[in-house]
Amino acid sequence: MYAKFHSIGAYVPSKVLSNADLEKMVDTSDEWILKRTGISERRMAAADEYTSDMAAKASKIAIERAGLERSDIDLIVCATVTPDYFNMPATSCIISDKLGIKNVQAFDISAACSGFVYAMSVAKAFIESGMKKHVLIIGAEKFSSIVDYTDRTTCILFGDGAGAAVISATEDKSEAFIDVHASADGSYADFLVTPAPGCVNPVSQKVLDEGLNFVQMKGNETFKLAVKTLTKDVKNILAANKINSEDIPHFIPHQANYRIIKAVGDSLKMKEEQVVVTVGKYGNTSAASIPMAINDIWESGRLKKGELMLLDTFGGGLTWASALLPFAGENA
Ligand code: ACO
Repeated sequence: MYAKFHSIGAYVPSKVLSNADLEKMVDTSDEWILKRTGISERRMAAADEYTSDMAAKASKIAIERAGLERSDIDLIVCATVTPDYFNMPATSCIISDKLGIKNVQAFDISAACSGFVYAMSVAKAFIESGMKKHVLIIGAEKFSSIVDYTDRTTCILFGDGAGAAVISATEDKSEAFIDVHASADGSYADFLVTPAPGCVNPVSQKVLDEGLNFVQMKGNETFKLAVKTLTKDVKNILAANKINSEDIPHFIPHQANYRIIKAVGDSLKMKEEQVVVTVGKYGNTSAASIPMAINDIWESGRLKKGELMLLDTFGGGLTWASALLPFAGENA
């Protein structure tokens, strides 16, 4: 049995946070943000709109597009670092309830921006082992809930949103995943960290006074490592599978910063039309970034059945992952 990428769906909140809005909040400028990141705007979930709400909306679309009943789903894996609750229950369990799916295995993955591709590797393994048939994988983030909107070095980058995909069993190797790589190096854990809440820093007055509940990032160091790691990772997966970069119609990298995407695309000698860029309108939505980008090109008719996708991502942990696979769903 093989695993195929059966369908895609996404949801973005309606509220837009533009660079002009951020100019009123911190000492920054539209020009600086655009030049350094390529971001013009990002979306923000409403106060009472949670990660599970966005995830459930994206999931409903993905299940419908796969032509399945919700009850066909036998595993739900949600990748998020902004879960509804930090300890329990898992956001996947809340999503299963919002979708009305009973008796389903459901758990979360914490791999920051690499979470969706990590979830793909889990879905692939469950399907190839014969344990599951239709796995719902989700990347969803309410990143605005851990961003300090007085810190100009981080608040300009992140946005909210969700993407979901159904990964299904198939006997047809031509529509199956070709390869997925996922890796981590915890010695760089301090590059991207949300210090609280957790057992290192349980909730206390100190946490609130020092803003330890907000994301902290060594931006410049992360940037350099991201370019190096992403380039190496993608070259490795292409070489391992004897595929040339010019044969990839859709290179879909994690949407963190246009400069990172451009540097990696250039080092692979990719043409502009091969590289998917959505960071300008959504910012960095962490685990949601890759499925939201896949959804974007599918809905616009750019991604067609059978076409190859190369995914490449990098995030807190540090984690990184890449995947090579055909799109095996119907055309938009
Ligand atoms: N507006 C204006 N000036 C700013 C802003 C801002 N919003 N932010 C920083 N600056 C200033 C700095 O204070 C610094 O000033 P100084 O030279 O006087 O000290 C100057 O701009 C340059 O700062 P750098 O941090 O060196 O800027 P850089 O070019 O590296 O861009 C950025 C910063 C955009 C954060 C970049 O480093 C980046 O994108 N890093 C990678 C992010 C990433 O990929 N994260 C991984 C995934 S995220 C996840 O896993 C959740």
